[in-house]
Amino acid sequence: MIRIGILGCGTVASGVIKLLAMHGESVRVQLGEEVEVAKVLARTPAKALALGLTEAQICSDFGEILNDPTISVVIELIGGTDAAYTYISEALKAGKHVVTANKDLIATHFQELNDLAAAHSVRFAFEASVGGGIPLVDSIRRTLAANRIQSMFGILNGTTNYILTKMTQNGLSYAEALAEAQRLGFAEANPASDVGGGDAARKIAILSTLAFHSPVSYYDVYHEGIAGITPTDIRFADQSGFVFKLLGIARQHENACEAYVRPALVPKRHPLASVSDSFNAVFITGDAVGEVMLYGRGAGSLPTASSVVGDLMNVVRAGRGHTAAALSCYENLPVMDILDSENVYYVRLSVQDRPMVLARVAGVFGKHGVSLASLVQESRGKDSAELLLFTHRASERELSAAMADLRNLDAVHEGAYWICMEDDA
Ligand SMILES: NC(=O)c1ccc[n+]([C@@H]2O[C@H](COP(=O)([O-])OP(=O)(O)OC[C@H]3O[C@@H](n4cnc5c(N)ncnc54)[C@H](OP(=O)(O)O)[C@@H]3O)[C@@H](O)[C@H]2O)c1
Repeated sequence: MIRIGILGCGTVASGVIKLLAMHGESVRVQLGEEVEVAKVLARTPAKALALGLTEAQICSDFGEILNDPTISVVIELIGGTDAAYTYISEALKAGKHVVTANKDLIATHFQELNDLAAAHSVRFAFEASVGGGIPLVDSIRRTLAANRIQSMFGILNGTTNYILTKMTQNGLSYAEALAEAQRLGFAEANPASDVGGGDAARKIAILSTLAFHSPVSYYDVYHEGIAGITPTDIRFADQSGFVFKLLGIARQHENACEAYVRPALVPKRHPLASVSDSFNAVFITGDAVGEVMLYGRGAGSLPTASSVVGDLMNVVRAGRGHTAAALSCYENLPVMDILDSENVYYVRLSVQDRPMVLARVAGVFGKHGVSLASLVQESRGKDSAELLLFTHRASERELSAAMADLRNLDAVHEGAYWICMEDDA
């Protein structure tokens, strides 16, 4: 009998409890032992009772799980970095295997918690921390382990992908699409971490750490959100053969790596372009395997529980009589400054519709060595126009300097730019 303790009784925890009830017999046959939910740490006991748990299974003190020698696996599903950090550390030190879905914690304390697990010869698993139900962590750590991972391009946040899909397919503004996402439960009441790119930044930090064997923290990852994208941008991208996606991007170089999150124009022919609504996908290029894309539900109760219970089964199998190997980072690649990256860019400028403005704009780009590939001017009525242009490959440092100069021109009201995904992906 494998006795487990579950911390939290929210969306993912309830999925885990349901999944173990649905497939308990299959789990028993595969492991050769039954899994029993011994205790659930529930801040709101009514939620646990509503899931069919008995009073005896519910506790409000973590000590009841920590100090129970018959509980061998702790599943942390409360989230955040405060209590979760303490509980996980204590559980590992007490010789219990830990499974978590906590991206906030893994994106900031990965190495420390892995080292702690190794020091106490227990397993620490976190498949659900990136991409919910998509088997990303295991694929990178095991199946693709013989590769040098060259790049990863990921749609890692379902909320933003839903919003961008509605803006593209239904012509909604950002505010309208966000409101619809909130009404349908695809966006939180406070969507800042999703729409601002912070959630995806945590996930690309975790994937980069695993893929490049080098510590990449959330704090190393530059991120931008999608709030500045307008219907004009969506339409112009569409006419030019692109769709907007919020991408987590990571590349491995000889002595450094890149890891950032930005809205990007993805060519319609690319497999990531057809990843719609709240689905997630990651497009990975390895030197041996070539291109691989993993696609699926990046969130949700049962999809995420699928990864958590899979981890539970794996730690039980792996924990039998083996010493846990440290998942150490043996490289130390600095994460490049975003200004040192190079891209092709799409730029939108709101300008006065007057003679010589175009020449002045072109002059500023020229002064910074940014060469323009194409430019369209659309009139916006009296004395006002929008310039929509693509650059050739350019340095981010030069492009951002050019944009700063342009925003200071009296003829330019507003300027914004986004990267275009290139053929290397
Ligand atoms: N939801 C998803 O689709 C998804 C996908 C991938 C990863 N994750 C990750 O999975 C974890 C859980 O997410 P969730 O969506 O299930 O969150 P949730 O629905 O908000 O559930 C969190 C649960 O933890 C409880 N809790 C919070 N702080 C606690 C504390 N200090 N002591 C005891 N209980 C505490 C809450 O109690 P109350 O019931 O009293 O509020 C709630 O039951 C997070 O790390 C999240 O990032 C979630």
